[in-house]
Amino acid sequence: MTTTQNTPTAAGAGANASKNFKATAASGDLADTPPERVAAIVTAVLKGVHDAIAEHDVTYPEFQAAKGWLMAVGEGGEWPLFMDVFVEHAVEEQVAKSQSGTKGSILGPYYLPDQTRLESVCELPHQDDPNATPLVFDGQVRDIDGTGLGGATVEIWQSDADGYYSGFAEHLPEGNLRGVVVTDDEGRFSITTIQPAPYQIPTDGPTGQLIEAAGWHPWRPAHLHILVKAEGHRPITTQLYFAGGEWLDSDVAEATKPELILDPQDDGTGTRRTTYDFELEPAKA
Ligand code: DHB
Ligand code: FE
Repeated sequence: MTTTQNTPTAAGAGANASKNFKATAASGDLADTPPERVAAIVTAVLKGVHDAIAEHDVTYPEFQAAKGWLMAVGEGGEWPLFMDVFVEHAVEEQVAKSQSGTKGSILGPYYLPDQTRLESVCELPHQDDPNATPLVFDGQVRDIDGTGLGGATVEIWQSDADGYYSGFAEHLPEGNLRGVVVTDDEGRFSITTIQPAPYQIPTDGPTGQLIEAAGWHPWRPAHLHILVKAEGHRPITTQLYFAGGEWLDSDVAEATKPELILDPQDDGTGTRRTTYDFELEPAKA
């Protein structure tokens, strides 16, 4: 991890993630959820809190510290980061129980819509970085019968070789390591990019303070974020990881799955190459 004057702060990443969430996320409307269901879920959540207080004999100073911490997470705009690291994987796993095709994983806080559209054979726009390892990622988007899906989109976003995402770190140009790749007539694509680095939850904000106070580590293994869409099919949000990568077995966001691990091989020129195919089930009527 390089530390420079440009190192993004938790405040920067958090505030940007909050702004992005408000602007783009399909933020759920509570009015769509019947009162009995709201009551049942919130009662269960509160019961978990009450049980933890009893089980661990929580004190008044600890209760007040928790309130202060919750306020700091809000003031720092870190709720999207916190929720996506510590809660989203459980929602994803629940939803996945009724899905087939390629395994999904969490969206995370750093997706940005409306990125540059790229042809099926393309290079992701990125800043020059002499320390970055070139990576070529190719594959095919298919339906569950094995037919290639031409004109599907493979949206990809990733950190750079220092673990930073464009749009959430001021020193990176807009659109860095982001793109919407359109598959060819057979559903194939070939994306030239760079090897991403492991990602560290910002350590200078309240989420980082909690991680440190609990004696945990703040790392996610290196990953590519992918969102695959094809007309008439269920979109797949997932992440691809790297065999042998650091933190693969202890992802702070608990978002790895054995089916989502790439094993790129050096082609003899210093470029690593890997293949991954996506299988999309039909959209539910
Ligand atoms: C977070 C960041 C990620 O890059 C990711 O994939 C998941 C979560 C986060 O900081 O919350
Ligand atoms: Fe990520």
